[in-house]
Amino acid sequence: MARDKALIVGNWKMNLGVHEASLYLHKLSKVVKIHRNVEVVIAPTMLTLQTLSLQVNLRQIKLAAQNFYWRDHGAYTGEVSASQLRGIVQFALVGHSERRYVFNESDKDTRAKVQAAIRNDIRPILCVGETLSERTANETKDVLFDQLIGGLANVTSEELDRVVIAYEPVWAIGTGKNAVPEDVMNAIQAIRSQLKHLYGAKAADGVQVLYGGSVTADSAATYLALPDVDGLLIGGASLDDHAFASIIEKAYVSKK
Ligand code: PGA
Repeated sequence: MARDKALIVGNWKMNLGVHEASLYLHKLSKVVKIHRNVEVVIAPTMLTLQTLSLQVNLRQIKLAAQNFYWRDHGAYTGEVSASQLRGIVQFALVGHSERRYVFNESDKDTRAKVQAAIRNDIRPILCVGETLSERTANETKDVLFDQLIGGLANVTSEELDRVVIAYEPVWAIGTGKNAVPEDVMNAIQAIRSQLKHLYGAKAADGVQVLYGGSVTADSAATYLALPDVDGLLIGGASLDDHAFASIIEKAYVSKK
């Protein structure tokens, strides 16, 4: 997948109901330009995905699931599978820290989800990142390596270009704390060198790696300017259509 394209993903988390989501998409589609160098993705709640899939112009904005279950069908009350999301979403978040730490998802779950997404023609956005205590203990690289190996174990080098990695330090998510650009660069370089180790330089070089964690319209350009950052995963700021549109605009400029 081309790394000359910036990928801007808005993760709405458990916010916006069907009507609000539809209204938001309506407003956003008025301002988002169709541009070869930026791909815009929104991840609304599961409930709104089908409605939005009928409304959205996929050349302009794509859809992501925030979560799904890795089995394709069966007796799993309350779950929705990647095979049911096939054709509705183009991307899916996997291993977001809120899934890992609030819902106790393991690397094994993450791995099965990455597989399920790929098998159903959905691009997984595998989220990795260290907690504050891991960072303080100087374990960031080890954590990233474990999460990468854990999530990608069954992914072949041919499948790797379907996968997006999002580096999201857990302590920066939803906290307003900004990671220092140099730390982001070091972490992403560590991610890419691990990918090289696992898949070889050519396959690893093609993987899009995003940054996420309290990114705002004000800080977006700083992260987008980093040579190793191929896009952003935005939570809070993506709920404000003006802020999100302004971040998309910054991505156009940064990739020109
Ligand atoms: P935030 O969330 O931008 O609100 O920190 C990012 C995320 O959880 O993906």
